[in-house]
Amino acid sequence: MIDKKLNSVRVGVVGCGYWGPKLIRNFQSIPGSDLQLVSDLREDRLEHIRGLYPGVKTTTDYAELLDSSVEAVALATPVSTHFQMAREALLHNKHVMVEKPLTRSSAEAEELIRLAEERQRILMVGHTFEYNPAVEYLKDLIAKGGIGRVYYISATRVNLGIFQKDINVIWDLAPHDISILLYILGMKPTQVSARGAAYVQPNVEDVAYVNLHFPNGVMADIRVSWLDPCKIRRITVVGSQKMVVYDDVEPNEKIKIYDKGVDSPPYSDTMEEFRLSYRYGDITTPAISGAEPLEIECRHFLDCIRHGRAPRSDGHDGLSVVKVLEEAQLSLRDSGMSRTINW
Ligand SMILES: NC(=O)c1ccc[n+]([C@@H]2O[C@H](COP(=O)([O-])OP(=O)(O)OC[C@H]3O[C@@H](n4cnc5c(N)ncnc54)[C@H](O)[C@@H]3O)[C@@H](O)[C@H]2O)c1
Repeated sequence: MIDKKLNSVRVGVVGCGYWGPKLIRNFQSIPGSDLQLVSDLREDRLEHIRGLYPGVKTTTDYAELLDSSVEAVALATPVSTHFQMAREALLHNKHVMVEKPLTRSSAEAEELIRLAEERQRILMVGHTFEYNPAVEYLKDLIAKGGIGRVYYISATRVNLGIFQKDINVIWDLAPHDISILLYILGMKPTQVSARGAAYVQPNVEDVAYVNLHFPNGVMADIRVSWLDPCKIRRITVVGSQKMVVYDDVEPNEKIKIYDKGVDSPPYSDTMEEFRLSYRYGDITTPAISGAEPLEIECRHFLDCIRHGRAPRSDGHDGLSVVKVLEEAQLSLRDSGMSRTINW
């Protein structure tokens, strides 16, 4: 009989709240993964996991996981714990996958990158959307000039809850959109401004508007909110030739390409002439793979460990997103004053 666990990467998952169980499900099922230990401070959460996966070993003591033979650690704990827990894992020579955002400051992210390089360990951040087939499609479409020159991008990520206590809505939801924008445009923004308000919990902004400027002239706005009646996860990319809407809530038709645009006339004497310059063409919905982005991400983490390759969402990618968040936070405190990001 072939031992399926032979040559598998020994994995430990920390944090069994909302997101951790999804990581556990994947590391429990994907080939080449040997889920050895699960940790949470809360015994009731561990009991829940043991109920789902009888036989899985659990501990309330992170130190036990660090001292175990686990080779790779996936952290799905609150953002305030990321730096310390990832640092300890690297110091114990573990490969680490940290949920987004990587850390609470760029100084912390830089320290993790340095440590991972020194220890020659994989440091990866859970920018799940970079593994989303629809985002991948969008990136390719833009790269091959499928919508012409990108003019501007508008992103909306809103719903009712889940309210966080240790971070505001920008640090909670905007990492997704920032990582998507950096990934699909293949560049980093040079300016950021943000405005927001705290309606429910004092000093924890639950609604925010973030604006980014990219070196190629692309402007992007991101609206994030925990206080909205509708769940919306939508990104509109307007190009010189076509326009695309990526709607992640749509079960099947996640991407719609609109052959719409406006060809600016050299001159127009009448309103009628001007109207003729608008183009209303077909709407195309490409077939997109239905593969689970988190599964692709978890497989990628293990592949990078096996082959010693830098992950797509490595520590540097995590740092870029944290830098944008940091400047957005400063702008927020400064009533939306535009800030230059020094890369
Ligand atoms: N990639 C995504 O799409 C996505 C989605 C949701 C959340 N997240 C991220 O996942 C992380 C966790 O978010 P969540 O919503 O699951 O939070 P949560 O509060 O629901 O769960 C966190 C869990 O970590 C446990 N924990 C805290 N400190 C610990 C410690 N020292 N040792 C062991 N366990 C500890 C808590 O008991 C809790 O069960 C955050 O970084 C969040 O941003 C990512």
